[in-house]
Amino acid sequence: MSKTLIVFGTRYGATHRSSEVIAKILKKKFNHEVELVKLSSETENIDFSSYDNVIVGTSVAMFSWTKRAKKFLKNDFRGKKLFVFISSAALTYAALEKGEMEKYEKHKKRFLDNVVKKKANVEPTSTAVFGGWIRKGKTEAFSLFNWKEEDAVNWAEEIGKLTG
Ligand SMILES: Cc1cc2nc3c(=O)[nH]c(=O)nc-3n(C[C@H](O)[C@H](O)[C@H](O)COP(=O)(O)O)c2cc1C
Repeated sequence: MSKTLIVFGTRYGATHRSSEVIAKILKKKFNHEVELVKLSSETENIDFSSYDNVIVGTSVAMFSWTKRAKKFLKNDFRGKKLFVFISSAALTYAALEKGEMEKYEKHKKRFLDNVVKKKANVEPTSTAVFGGWIRKGKTEAFSLFNWKEEDAVNWAEEIGKLTG
């Protein structure tokens, strides 16, 4: 049975929701043993030595990853399969939705590919870009909502096929 750790940094909750969807699919459909960890001050030194696969997710806001997700990516992942996803609703995913592929590639490079290249010591087996949401002030209303459950489902299925 494949053991998978999902760690995520979130500000507004979308990355948490995507992580839960991925966890559910890997458990139910691919029989993985999955642990889900929300990065916080209490998760400084996660022992992930027993995991075959590590999935790192982060919120992208104000042009940056969460501090803790960025730090986690500096760990030694040799001998494991690494997967990385970003929730980049306003720029990367918005460009994808509009079919503005040049913009999409530019943002993806900046917020995903270049960060991974700079921080991670193994090449990820697969990466993904998801949407998210922005709320209007402190109200329940959204000024932007482009999170799609099916994106997380599809990527989880890809991960399932790429892992044992
Ligand atoms: C203050 C603020 C700044 C943001 N900046 C960016 C940004 O620089 N690039 C981007 O693609 N999305 C940006 N967003 C949209 C986020 O990607 C979106 O809120 C997403 O849901 C964040 O993930 P999280 O919900 O897991 O925190 C921003 C949202 C807020 C509220």
